[in-house]
Amino acid sequence: MACKVLVLPGDGIGPEIVREALKVLRPLGDRFSFEEALVGGASIDAYGVPIKEEVLDLAKKSDAVLLGAVGGPKWEDLDYSVRPERALLALRKELGAFGNLRPAKVFSPLIDASPLKREVIEGIDLLVVRELTGGIYFGEPRGVERLPDGRERGLNTLVYHDHEVERIARLAFEVAGKRRRKVTSVDKANVLESTELWRKVVTRVHREYEGIELNHMYVDNCAMQLIREPGQFDVILTTNMFGDILSDEAAMLTGSIGMLPSASLGGGVGIFEPIHGSAPDIAGKNRANPLATILSAAMMLRYAFSMDREALAIERAVEEVLERGYRTPDIYSEGTKMVSCSEMGDRVVEALEEILSRI
Ligand code: NAD
Ligand code: IPM
Ligand code: MN
Repeated sequence: MACKVLVLPGDGIGPEIVREALKVLRPLGDRFSFEEALVGGASIDAYGVPIKEEVLDLAKKSDAVLLGAVGGPKWEDLDYSVRPERALLALRKELGAFGNLRPAKVFSPLIDASPLKREVIEGIDLLVVRELTGGIYFGEPRGVERLPDGRERGLNTLVYHDHEVERIARLAFEVAGKRRRKVTSVDKANVLESTELWRKVVTRVHREYEGIELNHMYVDNCAMQLIREPGQFDVILTTNMFGDILSDEAAMLTGSIGMLPSASLGGGVGIFEPIHGSAPDIAGKNRANPLATILSAAMMLRYAFSMDREALAIERAVEEVLERGYRTPDIYSEGTKMVSCSEMGDRVVEALEEILSRI
């Protein structure tokens, strides 16, 4: 039986980058069956809602979801309850995808693409484990209300239940066991009670994981340490909002946000998507970097389908293309060859076919 993948290209550069990821999966044969649906602004335009119930049902019945990005200026004035971004939150919640893995790995040919010094970023390979279905993104009450005196008040609530912290901590310790066995739990326990609980629960769960090192760090210090000495991190375990911010920051170690893939796991069906957004400033220009989405497809093979060999082959193909000097504009530096989004996809397919014929 073919692996059923629900493809949700979304908005802005979403369709361009997803097209390239699908191109890269093609040489792996007919092991996949793809179904495509609208999500985000595209769905609002067609149906008036960011994601239809039918699409959520389709996602639940799939083996994996491959997503591009959603959102854009066209939909920014809509009410929060019907904004494109709601589609992502609904998908994550409905699929129970509480664990978001965001690996930031510096490919050596790209060292000069980062604004940071070579000696700071050389060999960096860290993983942000972001809690994805709780925290301030989902806490109630929320909203904007008009007070009796006519003024307005905006409100969001940061809530964590012990069981939510427990399961994400377990995921972080387990993945750390397959890496360099070090977890840095990032919180703001000096100010926020909810993350004081976070710290307490992480410390408790850690007792079950012998041989894994744990340290705690405040989020402001972590933001600074990521730039000062990123080599100190292996796994960064953190809350929904801190993980959102720190992973964009970690992306710049690799040269561009266009390089960072992600996997959202925990329920039966995983979601695989780049960490960046719909990049409205370059949408429709065939100049987006498709590598984050291609690497997300590799994560899909590894985590959804246990196709480790094929996942590695895609990752190797990406590295090979970078070694050959091909660059989209976001990672371009002097002496390299600038290519478009679709050419980058072609180059990866070419390298992948060579690799597959060798193994
Ligand atoms: P963004 O990530 O879309 O773009 C930030 C900057 O990075 C832009 O200059 C963009 O051109 C560049 N960039 C992003 N991806 C790139 C790629 N693959 N190749 C080259 N350059 C790339 O963030 P934003 O501008 O803050 O948000 C734009 C829209 O995307 C908003 O509506 C936001 O809500 C949405 N968004 C969606 C997701 C998602 O779908 N997962 C994630 C983040 C933001
Ligand atoms: C991300 C995005 C989303 C988030 C938005 C678009 C809902 O920024 O996936 O990083 O904040 O989780
Ligand atoms: Mn984000």
